[in-house]
Amino acid sequence: MGLLSGLIDQASVYLEGHNLWVVGPATFGVFVVLSVIINVLNQLLFKDPNQPPVVFHWFPFLGSTVVYGMEPYKFFNKCQEQYGDVFTFILLGRKMTVTLGPKGNEFVFNGKHADLCAEEAYTHLTTPVFGSGVVYDCPNHMLMEQKKFMKFGLTTETFKAYVPLIKDEIVNYFQTSPFFSGQSGKVPLSTAIPQLTLFTASRSLQGREVREALTTTHADLFHDLDMGFTPVNFMFPWLPLPHNAKRDRAQKAMAKLYLDIIARRKSGEESKKEIDMIWNLMNRSYKSGESLSDLHVAHCMIALLMAGQHTSMATTTWTLLHLAAKPEIQKALYDEQIKVFGKDLAPLTYEKLSELQMVNNVVKEILRIHPPLHSIMRKVKSPLHVPDTNFVIPTSHFVMAAPGVSAMDEKYFKNAKEFDPFRWVGHEADEDNAEKFDFGFGLVSKGTASPYLPFGAGRHRCIGEQFANVQLGTIISTLVREFEFSLPPGQKDVPLVDYNSMVALAMAPAMVHWKRRGGSNH
Ligand code: HEM
Repeated sequence: MGLLSGLIDQASVYLEGHNLWVVGPATFGVFVVLSVIINVLNQLLFKDPNQPPVVFHWFPFLGSTVVYGMEPYKFFNKCQEQYGDVFTFILLGRKMTVTLGPKGNEFVFNGKHADLCAEEAYTHLTTPVFGSGVVYDCPNHMLMEQKKFMKFGLTTETFKAYVPLIKDEIVNYFQTSPFFSGQSGKVPLSTAIPQLTLFTASRSLQGREVREALTTTHADLFHDLDMGFTPVNFMFPWLPLPHNAKRDRAQKAMAKLYLDIIARRKSGEESKKEIDMIWNLMNRSYKSGESLSDLHVAHCMIALLMAGQHTSMATTTWTLLHLAAKPEIQKALYDEQIKVFGKDLAPLTYEKLSELQMVNNVVKEILRIHPPLHSIMRKVKSPLHVPDTNFVIPTSHFVMAAPGVSAMDEKYFKNAKEFDPFRWVGHEADEDNAEKFDFGFGLVSKGTASPYLPFGAGRHRCIGEQFANVQLGTIISTLVREFEFSLPPGQKDVPLVDYNSMVALAMAPAMVHWKRRGGSNH
């Protein structure tokens, strides 16, 4: 269990290093027994019918941290059976009220900002990684404006330019990576795919200079910064641990990378200015008239890099694993390439990507079974009544939505556990028909009571969906043109989920075998 074991290991190292194990084992034992007794009596004797039921737990503070952290969906399903769609559990001392099902999704995603606040739920984790003044380290209305600025850099025009850049990065990766030499071989996706998604996202969204920096001295910086995104940091981001010191150094160095690019562009030193996200953010200003400071441009760029990297990397990895397990879906994807691009497989373009219905349905289905973010959190800011119940959630609680639970519920998806991209045929435009609202960064679905919300909804809805589709569509198309994949001999199914990270990853090494189709480079 990542959160807990990470915390205990690191706390032990710290305590030993500082000689702080001063409480004798007997005293500690008595203290633990007493606190367990008081905690259990408290749960049995003081039930408040106006508050959601509390998931039974033996230890105060620790509560259900271990069972939740090990397998969140198993925990949610078990609690749903026992307590219904609304219940509270203890996560390292925090009271988390979970609201499941489409109405529960709606309750959290569509909550008013005055009632539910994302900043207070996430800032401890994200601000040391992204940097100050942006995303969850500023008032919500500024985040809405920052999302609008970022969206200006996510347009049809930029996507058209990105497709060939992404494709070139992928082809270059196959040609240079030792995992893909020869006519057949095997590749540990948990090593290869993070590199592939980082290179493709940085070459397109982040711009040429960032991509070049990532191949040279800055590659390890990204890794150190990434280490700040460990679950233990949700609660204790300030602990003086080695990985946090590295995170802080890396944050400053990454920010400097962007600041240097901005300075070169401002001084006119750069002869050929690129129209990319940095350029876009440098030219935006808030409604107040104030423009984005250079530091905030740099921090927004780090936020974009980190937001897209984990989600795309997890989704690409799961896609390849499920394709390896189902050759008939690979065939359907390959046939679609021939149908749309002709038998000589003309180069990929943004316009043609949208015609690849099978690719889109594969991505949709992967995000149904493996949505990267399993828990969406908000801090409760004013007492909140849960519709159709007697429950009022007090301000000492956080709320949590888990749309992945309804996305895997038989009530909404027949044979829910089955990877079946064909289930989406005829449902392609469902979200387009949902109620829309502009929270300040363009029209988005308002938090429909939907069982399927991998990109969230409402004011915190993802702005990266289209970019993710372009990136994933290009990667899947290029891979399917070039290779056939299979699971290692004897392995019947895709690997289990590893919940040690912030996103639901496939258990390493996530090996697949590959075979080149015809030796051509499309
Ligand atoms: C927000 C999922 C890719 C940038 C979100 C949220 C979800 C999500 C569920 C809502 C979080 C919440 O309500 O607390 C995904 C998935 C992706 C993906 C499944 C890919 C498969 C990206 C990419 C970018 C990005 C590529 C950047 C280009 C953002 C931003 C937010 C967000 C800026 C807004 C955070 C907020 O307003 O609080 N994403 N995302 N995402 N995502 Fe994504």
